[in-house]
Amino acid sequence: MISINNDTCIRCGKCQRVCPAFIPVICKDEVPALRHPEVCIECGHCVDVCPTGAYIHGAFAAEDIHAIDRSILPSPEGLMELIRSRRSNRTITSTPVPRHSLDMIQEAARYAPTAQNSRQVHLHLITDDEDLLKVEAATIGFFMRLARFMLLPPVKVIMRPFLRKLYDEVPALMAMNEQFKKGQRPCICNCTALLILSAPKGYSFGAQDCNLAYQNASLMAESLGVSQIYMGFVQTAMFMMGCKRAAKVLGIPKGHKPWAIMGLGMPAFKYPKYTTR
Ligand SMILES: Cc1cc2nc3c(=O)[nH]c(=O)nc-3n(C[C@H](O)[C@H](O)[C@H](O)COP(=O)(O)O)c2cc1C
Repeated sequence: MISINNDTCIRCGKCQRVCPAFIPVICKDEVPALRHPEVCIECGHCVDVCPTGAYIHGAFAAEDIHAIDRSILPSPEGLMELIRSRRSNRTITSTPVPRHSLDMIQEAARYAPTAQNSRQVHLHLITDDEDLLKVEAATIGFFMRLARFMLLPPVKVIMRPFLRKLYDEVPALMAMNEQFKKGQRPCICNCTALLILSAPKGYSFGAQDCNLAYQNASLMAESLGVSQIYMGFVQTAMFMMGCKRAAKVLGIPKGHKPWAIMGLGMPAFKYPKYTTR
């Protein structure tokens, strides 16, 4: 339900200028009107931009509309230094990531833009040690089956010329398997938490939305001193295994695709430098 308070609306027309669905119709000497409010995508621009609080939207309660404190925003230089200093720091210790940090990382992910504000990104956090081991085992298991198949003599003869790069990875996969046998978790880099960003299978912008959310979350992790690593091995394995199996291993909703997976943990140390890119 949307309405514009005729008494407090100052006809500034800002809501009309920002609405992506062209809903508000504001004319100087006329009562504010709404054109097809049913097509609203609930992005909240209208309520956020209204200087007098005249724009009332059923999707946003008064306590969910916040004034922005621009005095605490990072300077461009400060933000740039954060971006430059972000690293996939793999020196993960056994110290768990504080709950408050995990909450802030997820909140940062939720504020990323989504196509048509559809907000289909689902966040699922894994912190239980047995569940983490399950993900590691499923990933290494997948890659070992793949490597063994690739190394079958007839397969190797046919496939190697076409998949040279993939064949070059086989020794590294074997080494990872050896590490796994010794109790390490090479695929998840010994992370103590995994954040799975998934979206419904049929949703066309799942990859984009999940990875934009990932980047928001990764910068928040960096600012909190939490290490994050993109879990490419895990994501590839889960993707290749299919939605059903992946949903079971990762604990995400049925019919969801895991488009991005973030490994999290407390690093043993921080880097004092960054290199130019
Ligand atoms: C799509 C993607 C997949 C990745 N997969 C892995 C992975 O499986 N394991 C890992 O340790 N790092 C992985 N990374 C991290 C990259 O290796 C890392 O971002 C890159 O080397 C640059 O280093 P930086 O993140 O410290 O700047 C991945 C990164 C991306 C973007």
